[in-house]
Amino acid sequence: MALTLHGGRPGTDYDAAWWRSVFGLLGECFPGLPGGAATAEALGFPWADQTTPFTLSEQGRTVAHVGVLAHPMRLDGRAAVVAGVHAVGTTEAWRRRGLARRLLGEALDWVDERFALAKLHTDLPEVYAPHGFRVVPTHRFRTPPQPPAQVQKRLLQPLRHAADADLLRSLLRLRTPASNRCATADPGWLELTVAALSGALSSGFWHIESHNAIVALGEEAGGALILDVIAPEPPPLAVVMGAAGAADRPVLWSFSPELSCDRAEAIPTPPEAGVLMVRGDWPLGEPFGISPLWEH
Ligand SMILES: CC(C)(COP(=O)(O)OP(=O)(O)OC[C@H]1O[C@@H](n2cnc3c(N)ncnc32)[C@H](O)[C@@H]1OP(=O)(O)O)[C@@H](O)C(=O)NCCC(=O)NCCS
Repeated sequence: MALTLHGGRPGTDYDAAWWRSVFGLLGECFPGLPGGAATAEALGFPWADQTTPFTLSEQGRTVAHVGVLAHPMRLDGRAAVVAGVHAVGTTEAWRRRGLARRLLGEALDWVDERFALAKLHTDLPEVYAPHGFRVVPTHRFRTPPQPPAQVQKRLLQPLRHAADADLLRSLLRLRTPASNRCATADPGWLELTVAALSGALSSGFWHIESHNAIVALGEEAGGALILDVIAPEPPPLAVVMGAAGAADRPVLWSFSPELSCDRAEAIPTPPEAGVLMVRGDWPLGEPFGISPLWEH
């Protein structure tokens, strides 16, 4: 059975029926993804607006998909737009027959004409290594102990309260990237889509009104993981640590906190968090981290 290839056109070129078929596949490969994408769309960030899809279909049914994002970042002190490979999936009956390999080849030919650098996050580096991707070690960071400030913080409920959604979107738009070494600079579509997919939207974003800041928090290895600091001006370290509730449990940063503290200790990211792979000249030599909210 011959398969039909689509690819290289913006996601917005395709109609709702075409996307329903893609989300049928993606829901099979990544349970919860269609629901998370619908939530992100309700917040103003439709999936199709940001991705360039590459698909193979059999009689109108999508059987394999590779997406490419244009991810604006702060990287090694400079603005950069990096190709982000995402949502790579093949339906079970077609696995191990070279479909992902073929689509990655198509997608990377397209990427090579437009981007100097590509990246992705995965638990399966074997799939990507033959395409020139290599693992780059990432780190979590521990800042020196210090008494955390008493901060008033409030959990945002962007899915329940329109004013909280507005506040989150507006601070994402106005923010300074959270690190100069490596941070997202997207105006919200990546971070809120990933947060919708992971569930962090309802439990992770804390507003600190006194500093016009949001601290996004998650959990890792029994402690708090700082996922992001979203603010026009980064708040002082003690304020972030106060928001993380630092007194009685370990706190790690998922990205380099050099804007708040230049004496942080770098700790390798645990292997169960998956790996960052890059293709092209990765500019950073010194330790850096990448928040789970900025991965795809
Ligand atoms: C991973 C996935 C996309 C692979 O798709 P596929 O069409 O079966 O991949 P291909 O047949 O093109 O495989 C190409 C190569 O990738 C590697 N590979 C594929 N699946 C693999 C797996 N599950 N584990 C390790 N390596 C794998 C192999 O080297 C393979 O070559 P080989 O078959 O000659 O050994 C598919 O199994 C899938 O959809 N899984 C669920 C979703 C997922 O985990 N996606 C990846 C997220 S980063």
